[in-house]
Amino acid sequence: MLNRLVVFFGLFWVVTSAFGQSIERYSIIPRPAQLEPRAGEFIISRSTTIGVPFGQPDLKAVVDTLANHMNRSTGMNLSVRNVNKLTVPENLIEFIPSPDTTLGDEGYRIDATNKLITIEASSSKGFFYAVQTLYQLLPPAVFATKHPVPATNLTTLSIPACRIQDRPRYSYRGLHLDVGRHFFPVPLIKKYLDLMAMHKFNNFHWHLTDDQGWRIEIKKYPKLTQIGAQRRETIVGHYDDYDPQVFDGKPYGGYYTQDEIREVIRYAASRYINVVPEIELPGHALAALAAYPELACSPGPYQVATKWGVFDDVFCPTEKTFSFLQDVLTEVINLFPGKYIHIGGDECPKTVWKKNAFCQQLIKREGLKNENGLQSYFINRIDKFVTSKGRRIIGWDEILEGNGPAIRLSPNATVMSWRGIKGGIQAARQQHDVIMTPGQFCYFDHFQGDPAQEPTGFGGSLPLAKVYSYNPTPPELTTTEATHILGAQGNIWTEYISTWDQLNYMLWPRAAALAEVVWTPLNQKNYEDFTRRLPVLFERLSTLNVTYARTIYDVSFSAKPTGDGKVDVSLSADKQAPQIRYTLDGSIPSDESLQYERSLVLDKSTTIRAATFADGSALSQLAKMRKDYIVSKATGKPYTLLNAPSAGRPDKNYSLTDGVTGGMGGYEVAGVVSFSNDINAVIDLGQSQSIEGVRVGFLKYTAKNICLPKQVEISVSEDGKTFQLVLTAKTNPAEAGKRGFVRLPFDFSPTTARYVRIIARNIGRVPAGLRNPGKAAQLMVDEIEVR
Ligand code: ACM
Repeated sequence: MLNRLVVFFGLFWVVTSAFGQSIERYSIIPRPAQLEPRAGEFIISRSTTIGVPFGQPDLKAVVDTLANHMNRSTGMNLSVRNVNKLTVPENLIEFIPSPDTTLGDEGYRIDATNKLITIEASSSKGFFYAVQTLYQLLPPAVFATKHPVPATNLTTLSIPACRIQDRPRYSYRGLHLDVGRHFFPVPLIKKYLDLMAMHKFNNFHWHLTDDQGWRIEIKKYPKLTQIGAQRRETIVGHYDDYDPQVFDGKPYGGYYTQDEIREVIRYAASRYINVVPEIELPGHALAALAAYPELACSPGPYQVATKWGVFDDVFCPTEKTFSFLQDVLTEVINLFPGKYIHIGGDECPKTVWKKNAFCQQLIKREGLKNENGLQSYFINRIDKFVTSKGRRIIGWDEILEGNGPAIRLSPNATVMSWRGIKGGIQAARQQHDVIMTPGQFCYFDHFQGDPAQEPTGFGGSLPLAKVYSYNPTPPELTTTEATHILGAQGNIWTEYISTWDQLNYMLWPRAAALAEVVWTPLNQKNYEDFTRRLPVLFERLSTLNVTYARTIYDVSFSAKPTGDGKVDVSLSADKQAPQIRYTLDGSIPSDESLQYERSLVLDKSTTIRAATFADGSALSQLAKMRKDYIVSKATGKPYTLLNAPSAGRPDKNYSLTDGVTGGMGGYEVAGVVSFSNDINAVIDLGQSQSIEGVRVGFLKYTAKNICLPKQVEISVSEDGKTFQLVLTAKTNPAEAGKRGFVRLPFDFSPTTARYVRIIARNIGRVPAGLRNPGKAAQLMVDEIEVR
């Protein structure tokens, strides 16, 4: 399917994919430390021998999985044989334990010619990673779980000849999964682990408890799962979509039994993945408090959270709470064999502790400075307990707060730097180990493309190229300090990820980029080269039935008004997406839609939808990218704003008449001008003409205090000095409901004028009945039209 056309360009082979794109012959992700291409191929047929030495059961188990995969996808019946040195080493794939210490614990060597493949490593882990590389040298169809693979006639397999020597840059290569906000059952956790292993990740951070659900069975405290694993209902849409918020009325829950946890740990171990459990404390504890309200500072009752965010009710630092947490951690430690126990530590509001007499006495008794000192005290007690059990804590970077002579973290406490990299730098300088997970590079719940065009997500922007660009070792660290940077981890918080498909959409290909960040030597990283390997990654994921985002192939829109009242729209896309096709009638583009050649000049309001193609096959999602443009008598015309816009969202190049509508998604808003007082705009149409209406696009986003105006007044003028009022309209600033752009029409009797003045009166304070009554209201506008 892939090897239609092979062209030799110096050291690089390029083949043509099913998509019609050029792709690499060696599409290995993460890219190996050293890869030397060679001509020729090793053909795997029924008569190929796969050999491992006698007396190496772990190695045999790893190689058996390789044979099983090849058999499943081809219908061959290869088996792994124990071999001694063969006299005629031909048609042989041989695994040879090596004493070579330069490979390290996780490294390996592959030497593949057209006659023989030898694989060397000094541990079964190294062989495991060698096998992951072999899978990626095989056609993507090898990942199929059934034979025959639909649409292929795979009966033999081939591996392109090459020589590879490989070992990882970092020892900690993590992916995290939040199962508190949405629950993913064991079969999906196993698939997640499979995908991790395929990309040579070796730590699975399992975020098991949060305000919205407690997901791990604890024998001593059955109510944690009887009560804490269920929420009554869940907020609908984005946190800010509706004002007031809307809930689905459907109970939601799930948890893992201890048997299931053990099964996951075993499954992960067979893929050389360590599982890091996280039990959140002292914050993000509502699910536990709902089950055991006596662990809070006041009697409650509490309910498992039904919406997202950070909640004031947290564990109270009483002896009862510490006994409870020690009991819970004891069961966790007995279940999880790894050295790390993650104890959370992030986002713990001090509101309740500040008001609580017990907490205040404890602060005095322990000689703590304040409630932050109390958080240190809390973490320190848990740290001591975990350390006494022979394990080490990982905590979010807040655990560094208050770390000092009085209360000190265990030297072996490891910090996860999530609020940027500062915490990581500070921790490394204090000689603590660090795992880098900064939000701006590692948070896969952020948008990978235009927030207005992506599915509902948390907010923030993290395009693929940005993930790829990340270097986990901050340059400001000395060489010694830098040894504390163990690696990096991608985090996936699931507030807005309720399905397996959506989870994978957010993960891939960004997790593959991160795999290369943590595995590949810095001097071998190259984003262009990475994107050339993506088509094969996508074929692998498709074969596995795993969703992925093709956002990098999305069309970008840019537009500017012309001098004669039209809008000139340019479309562009990544160079890997050579053709753009579009429609102007709102329909979804197809391979028969118009092909984009030059910018589109719109003389009326138009919705453009666009998608990318290569050789007739779609690359981007067909139904995804659309943008509305507005053309009116005001388009491209200058105006004066008598009240200045707010500094945060100023006016740029007459954006209220540029024809470009605003956008919104997550917490992001684009293409609007904001006013903290009234809007008072005078548009100069350039010449006197007949007009009969104005339409203004207001953003209604009351959860963020952005309200509709209370009144709009339209006046007209021939000279720009004397204005005649043509309309006063009451509008409804208390309008609740879904956020969005509201295009309010203001029609009046036809009149002749050159200047149009629009005054929109700000309500001043957010009205009652909305999220933040009494707060200062803003007006936001994207476009003003004149008819
Ligand atoms: C976090 O994202 N609150 C660690």
